Amino acid sequence: MVAALDIQVTKTLKSRFSEIDINHLPFGKYYTDHMLEVDYKDGKWQKVAIRPFQALNMSPGLSAIHYGQSIFEGIKAYKDREGNPFIFRPIDNFRRFNLSAERMEMPVVPEEIFMEGMRRLVELDKDWIPMKNDYSLYIRPFMFSTDETLGVKAADTYKFMILLSPTGPYYSSPLRIYVEEKYTRAARGGFGFAKAAGNYGGSMLATAVAKRQGFDQVLWMDAFEHKYIQEMGTMNVFFVIGDKVLTPDLEDGTILEGVTRDSAIEVLREEGYTVEEGPIHIDDVVRAYEAGELREAFGTGTAATISMIKELRYEEFTIKFDIDGAKAAPTVKRVLTDIREGRRKDTRGWMFKV
Ligand code: COI
Repeated sequence: MVAALDIQVTKTLKSRFSEIDINHLPFGKYYTDHMLEVDYKDGKWQKVAIRPFQALNMSPGLSAIHYGQSIFEGIKAYKDREGNPFIFRPIDNFRRFNLSAERMEMPVVPEEIFMEGMRRLVELDKDWIPMKNDYSLYIRPFMFSTDETLGVKAADTYKFMILLSPTGPYYSSPLRIYVEEKYTRAARGGFGFAKAAGNYGGSMLATAVAKRQGFDQVLWMDAFEHKYIQEMGTMNVFFVIGDKVLTPDLEDGTILEGVTRDSAIEVLREEGYTVEEGPIHIDDVVRAYEAGELREAFGTGTAATISMIKELRYEEFTIKFDIDGAKAAPTVKRVLTDIREGRRKDTRGWMFKV
């Protein structure tokens, strides 16, 4: 599919694989034996290297640290029931990565570096792909600026890297969500659609306040009226109201165009659900609850996969969901698992063969 890529591969002398318990993996705690690294300088990408996972030696004047030109992606690799490694929809993450790069005035990464580099890295460390239910190999491509001067400007030099992390579920049980009306995540014209490190840094305070009150995540509202639902920071959000599934649209560029969000929409439509993308006012969610029409709420994300919401707190309202009665979210989860494990035909070419 992509041109042969010349990669300088240096293999580790001693694998760390035996140090982990592949059946008990917190999200993002462990890294595999190798990582991919390539620098951008003099206006072009240099030679791609795969080398043993190791620390980077960087200047404290690194521009990414000071001014935040830093973006990333999250992708997952699985093995089917025969043990063949696959990556789920990586081309969609590649496209989104370069949209983030453009928004942050960073160089785009060529397809062969992103796709073939990732394929070669996953192939090398494929023994680290867990085969347990809800487990996977999390792939973290990222890019940051590497200039060492303090002037505020788009940098001239960058580093693109890929790390691999064998991982278990991000959330282990249904979520309690706090509707955030004081702090906001993104406004029209901003960079909410970009997977930029700053979007996550800016979310920490509100999330920590919500966690101190026993919630797992916040649900972000729009920056003007604080009434229109955006996303949850680690996930896009869906509501089942009556016989429809609703999710915020991507029109104003404030939410992330989630690959799992898109997969969920496609799967739900295929399974006969009516899915509508559009503005969702929080008061309409409350009204649907009071009318007995609000059936489910769930989040979608690469890391979080499909995560059920069991409680939503909005001002004085506490909305409780009947997790056991949910149908839409378990349907998406089952269909996606069946596609990944080869029990259901991959009609859309979502599974990229390693
Ligand atoms: C992902 O789902 O891949 C994310 O990036 C969310 C979070 C782990 C940062």
